[in-house]
Amino acid sequence: NTQKIIVIPGDGIGPEVTEEAVLTLQALGAGLEFTFLDRINADRYLRDGVALTDGELEEVRTAGTVLFGAVGDPRVTNPDYARGVLLRLRTDLDLYVNYRPAVLLDERLSPLRDESRRGIDCVVVRENTEGLYTGVGGSLRTGTPDEVTVDQETNTHLGVSRIVEYAYGVARRSVCMVDKSNAVRFGGQLWQRVWRETRDRHPELDSSHLYVDVAAMKLVKDPASFDVIVTNNSYGDILSDLTAELAGGLGTAASANINPVTGMGLYEPVHGSAPDIVGKGLANPAGAVLSAALLLRDRGLKSEAEALERAVRRTVAERRCTPDLGGTLNTRQAGEAIRAALD
Ligand code: NAI
Ligand code: MG
Repeated sequence: NTQKIIVIPGDGIGPEVTEEAVLTLQALGAGLEFTFLDRINADRYLRDGVALTDGELEEVRTAGTVLFGAVGDPRVTNPDYARGVLLRLRTDLDLYVNYRPAVLLDERLSPLRDESRRGIDCVVVRENTEGLYTGVGGSLRTGTPDEVTVDQETNTHLGVSRIVEYAYGVARRSVCMVDKSNAVRFGGQLWQRVWRETRDRHPELDSSHLYVDVAAMKLVKDPASFDVIVTNNSYGDILSDLTAELAGGLGTAASANINPVTGMGLYEPVHGSAPDIVGKGLANPAGAVLSAALLLRDRGLKSEAEALERAVRRTVAERRCTPDLGGTLNTRQAGEAIRAALD
């Protein structure tokens, strides 16, 4: 009963961290079969102008599960490349949930001075298919001093309803809905209305609402008070980098792009291709490995997922990790330490 996983390592440190994630999954012996689509990268885009082919998209659709590194390259300035790979996968596979957990890996990694407030254990549930990132908009008199640009924010009743409902479905204690409905009028009202209706159907959970600016402030002031945060695409993007840093740093943050109805999923570290550290062995593989743990969980391999998470936690506690977490190991050694810590 082997499950087929498509691996898209991508650019920069993407291949470095993804390789450690794959080796770690293989060490677990979870019966997964890997197909590498490593031709999807900036080199090919620069050469042929191709981001993702229809054939590749169908291959991914058939397999249904993707382990993804990162895309982005300083030589590529056209946003069509990253949009054509990652945003296209998210949109065309309708992966409408971006699930981004943030659990403090180790006390000493918290950037907060006040010890009593450090214990973050929350999930940002980010809407992943609409909002500000659909590419709807335009530019007039481009490149002139009279240039005018518009990027429109799309919010549909279906899109907002399903993400808010998902958030309530995975919450343990509470759901905090984050928007900017005091300034963004129409989408704001839609989020407010849908959220109130969903909240009333879930009296078993605590519900609250914060404007995004206040949410950012409160995350720093009292991160332990949050359980599930549900928000739109752009606010979720930004707040999840903040929660990642509060939990131990961008190098450790994992994410799942999923469609809970079809069961399709794309699993990737929250960080990007980090061109500033590529090839130096400085890339922390923890975010990629913990993303693989989210993949295992969604494929019904809960005990394997927990074994991975324990192993990462253990290595960080013993400082057998990369320099961003206070260790001295390189990417490969940090991956090996995680594999050695598997029980
Ligand atoms: P980034 O996440 O790549 O890097 C931000 C900072 O964090 C850098 O200083 C980097 O060295 C550090 N960092 C990131 N991952 C790390 C790791 N695993 N271990 C240790 N340090 C790590 O974000 P940046 O610099 O804004 O973007 C670089 C490229 O990545 C751009 O082309 C961007 O578009 C792309 N990107 C791609 C994403 C994706 O594929 N999902 C997500 C975010 C950015
Ligand atoms: Mg981001």
